Amino acid sequence: MDPRTTVINERLKRINRIIAVSSGKGGVGKSLVATTLALTLVHRGCKVGLFDLDFTSPSTHLIMGVKNVQPKEDKGIVPPKVKGLAYMSLVHFSGDQPAPLRGADVSNALIELLAVTQWGELDFLVIDMPPGISDAVLDLVRLVKRIEFLIVTTPSLLAFETVKKQVRLLLELKVPIIGVVENMKMNRAKNIEQETEKLGAKFLEGIPFDPKVEAAIGDVTKLLDTTLAQKLRKVAASNIT
Ligand SMILES: Nc1ncnc2c1ncn2[C@@H]1O[C@H](COP(=O)(O)OP(=O)(O)OP(=O)(O)O)[C@@H](O)[C@H]1O
Ligand SMILES: [Mg+2]
Repeated sequence: MDPRTTVINERLKRINRIIAVSSGKGGVGKSLVATTLALTLVHRGCKVGLFDLDFTSPSTHLIMGVKNVQPKEDKGIVPPKVKGLAYMSLVHFSGDQPAPLRGADVSNALIELLAVTQWGELDFLVIDMPPGISDAVLDLVRLVKRIEFLIVTTPSLLAFETVKKQVRLLLELKVPIIGVVENMKMNRAKNIEQETEKLGAKFLEGIPFDPKVEAAIGDVTKLLDTTLAQKLRKVAASNIT
């Protein structure tokens, strides 16, 4: 076992649930789902953290319209409070500069951030994952004992084929999956819902393509007024307590 596992789980022990928003596929809406879900939980009165683990293209700060926040150092790093969330992102350190990291460096940065961040007591920690089923997913599964996954797909076969593999992998590893949301739906087709259930995972909700979403990027009030937010409130009410 990696010795850092103990440090990491010690850091995370006062967090009730740790939820990774993930997808085998890129561009399906993970960052929007993660950010909106976290904000929805804050509005419900919960203590929530948001952790942007997409080091190559972090975007949660853009979604919330956040600039120049600085974490504090106090026996580790204390995430700044942003829109009611304890918020951690590599952007706090790299700003607008690119952070070109190779595989092993990504892994190390991820482990380092997990090991140094002082989240304190939280009801939920929502993690915005980079696309894919590679390093970040495997590292989290290996290092964070209580990790759970919320999977995002789109109606496209190209997204769902990869998502299926991810669901199978997590089921094999016996990692809890809260369920699958189907984002950017353009019609009422039920095939993704049926296929998800066939895999043995729960289908949570279909989220329509909502033209208001793009215009709401950078404005949390507008974001919480989209159908995406409305559907995620429903998902949270029945599955995330
Ligand atoms: N329900 C929706 N309605 C309309 N547009 C949406 C919806 N969900 C996501 N989008 C749009 O899809 C694009 C991708 O969203 P987002 O960046 O959250 O995906 P991602 O899965 O995090 O991408 P990446 O894999 O690069 O991290 C964005 O331009 C966003 O505005
Ligand atoms: Mg993203």
